Amino acid sequence: MHISSTLAIPDTSYVPAHVAIIMDGNGRWATQRHMPRVAGHSRGLDAVRAVVEACAVRGVKYLTLFAFSSENWRRPEDEVSFLMRLFMMSLRREVVKMHANNIRLKVVGDLSRFSPRIQQLIGDAERRTAANTGLTVTIAANYGGRWDLLQAIRKMLLRAPMLDPSTLDESMLAPHLAMAYAPEPDLFIRTGGEQRISNFLLWQLAYTELYFTDVFWPDFDAAELDKAFASYRQRERRFGRTSAQVVAPGVSGTA
Ligand code: FPP
Repeated sequence: MHISSTLAIPDTSYVPAHVAIIMDGNGRWATQRHMPRVAGHSRGLDAVRAVVEACAVRGVKYLTLFAFSSENWRRPEDEVSFLMRLFMMSLRREVVKMHANNIRLKVVGDLSRFSPRIQQLIGDAERRTAANTGLTVTIAANYGGRWDLLQAIRKMLLRAPMLDPSTLDESMLAPHLAMAYAPEPDLFIRTGGEQRISNFLLWQLAYTELYFTDVFWPDFDAAELDKAFASYRQRERRFGRTSAQVVAPGVSGTA
């Protein structure tokens, strides 16, 4: 079990252990260049490769990428089907490279809406890389934070149908969240200039440091990641405490 940021003070380190990214701006990157939107998604995949490698080199333990939200089905049909093909291709090709680099791949979200072929490729990729001990890359696909909370509540109640509501606490719900295997993100990055969470990891972002950049996702690279890390290092992670308590833990009256 990982430490909950609302129940205890998690360890923090120089390099964020868990980085969660909303990869936004692919369409605008392409439109600016008079290219079709899907060309931006292809270049977005190149950026994924660069950031996965940069995170592995820097000692990040978990990298979570929001690839397709539960609301992205509302996009034009040809864009959705292009994204599905790109996803399928990555599951075939990229996973071989990831496995060779000791990377573990996980996919979270409501996978029931994907084709049986994609579901099978996801299962194969997860099984193949399950024992890898390096960076864990999680792809959030047809994921929504509200979906995650609801599916966790359903699972919890199935296990304990007679649950007394007054006894409900975090530790009963948290193990059922889709990303229960990972600590809460230390750093959230959103590219593309928008400053919102867009139904990403609603529960887990409680005490995450937020970083927004105008850079479009296809232009996000190791240098941009380092800028985000530099900003992260300037933050004082108080988790509800005062600044004095953070500077001298235990001295200023914490129990
Ligand atoms: C948001 O940009 C991006 C997406 C909805 C798709 C993300 C997909 C990739 C980065 C490529 C593939 C990745 C994997 C893991 C296979 P947008 O289209 O909303 O950009 P816009 O806001 O400029 O329109």
